[in-house]
Amino acid sequence: MTLRSIITLPDEKILREVSKPVGAVDNATRRLWDDMLETMYEAPGIGLAAIQIGVPQRLLVVDLAKEGEEAKPLFVANPEITWSSEQQSDYEEGCLSIPDYYEMVTRPAEIRMRYLDRQGEAKEIEAQGLLATCLQHEIDHLDGILFIDHISKLKRDRVLKKFMKAQKLGKL
Ligand code: NI
Repeated sequence: MTLRSIITLPDEKILREVSKPVGAVDNATRRLWDDMLETMYEAPGIGLAAIQIGVPQRLLVVDLAKEGEEAKPLFVANPEITWSSEQQSDYEEGCLSIPDYYEMVTRPAEIRMRYLDRQGEAKEIEAQGLLATCLQHEIDHLDGILFIDHISKLKRDRVLKKFMKAQKLGKL
């Protein structure tokens, strides 16, 4: 496994790319997932999309296990949301590509997601709570969407400006 570097703001260009579905889950896919997982654990974070390490493939890793709990990684390829609840919920979200910034985001409280697992088998799961939020956040990445796109333009412009300024000052 190899630690990869995570692309962060203001480097928006790659993060805005739409990722392509994987043709099949093979050893190269599994190696990439392992790198993503190690990179995510190291950060640390609870979810990571391949595009965040510069690979435009529809691949995610998620692990909601808390510190001290046994790791429970979920490997996801080609995810599709097949149903989402009318009921919404609010979570304070953050993103490894937008370090040290957190904001409340409203999303459907429950979803159903179809995807390919680590063996390449088609699966469908139902998710609620933090898992539902996390999966929607990560799937957004595959379409070039960041969680700051779900907040007000005023707040979004402010955070983008903050990252551009930090880069100019050589702090990134
Ligand atoms: Ni993110």
